[in-house]
Amino acid sequence: MNSYHQSNRDRWDAAAAKWKAMIDRRDTWRKIPSHPELVFVPEEMKYFKDLSLWYSPRAKLPVGSHSTGIAGKKVAVLGSGDNMAVLALAGMGAWVTSIDISEKQLDHARERAEKLGLDIKFIQADVTDLSVLPDAAFDLIYTGGHVAVWISDLQQYYNEAVRILRTDGLFMVNEYHPFRRIWKKHTGKLEIEKDYFALGPFRYNFSNNILEPEAGDYICYEFHWTMSNFIQAVLDAGCRLIEVAEFGRHVGDWEGAPLQGLPESFLLVGRKD
Ligand SMILES: C[S@@+](CC[C@H](N)C(=O)[O-])C[C@H]1O[C@@H](n2cnc3c(N)ncnc32)[C@H](O)[C@@H]1O
Repeated sequence: MNSYHQSNRDRWDAAAAKWKAMIDRRDTWRKIPSHPELVFVPEEMKYFKDLSLWYSPRAKLPVGSHSTGIAGKKVAVLGSGDNMAVLALAGMGAWVTSIDISEKQLDHARERAEKLGLDIKFIQADVTDLSVLPDAAFDLIYTGGHVAVWISDLQQYYNEAVRILRTDGLFMVNEYHPFRRIWKKHTGKLEIEKDYFALGPFRYNFSNNILEPEAGDYICYEFHWTMSNFIQAVLDAGCRLIEVAEFGRHVGDWEGAPLQGLPESFLLVGRKD
């Protein structure tokens, strides 16, 4: 694990208790296994409901693909964080492996899975080194929701994701849109603070409060990937892109800039060649 990722892990371990409290306050996590649409947008849900979308119209559906949904499929979630995606996928009947660098984040997720009676495997690992997992072990890899921003080597992260994916399996990336990362905060208007093409690392000294960043003792490093970085990394990892989408109009208080009119997130769906 490189020193950027070590620092980021330490900060996430320190922040995990406040992150958990925030999720507990929302109190939607108990509903998520039976309401996966609380986590996933329709563009994603359709792949979990209809496996025929995984294959090109000309391809023959493989044996066993007549099942209509993700139930029974092997799924890994990388950088699983609050694990809402993990709980939703497990609720739909998938066999889910949840992978995160922060043992503390995983501890909280393990507790929730136990309370919900869900059988989920939790693994502490850096997404750029998944050597604890064999090649081609999963039908679907899901990642995103502010993971890439902590990763110093996007290509290595996606290479590992696609290595553990079986041929014809799906790689789904749903990330915060890079157009939203570049603005000055709290000026009331859009003013560029960081060049869109400046990738970082950006070094910060923050407290353990990840919800309202304030100066503190934890050093962390952020990396700003562009749209073309994301798309090229999925392609170069060995996938054919089958969907690219941009969506979301909500502007969170934490964003601190008038971002109305910009896409909130993007989705990339790749099929492993
Ligand atoms: C904001 S969460 C993203 C997941 C989810 N969308 C959420 O909101 O909780 C970021 C997660 O990425 C994890 N993370 C950061 N760097 C990582 C790395 N190198 N390998 C694996 N996980 C990492 C952190 O521990 C944290 O749990």
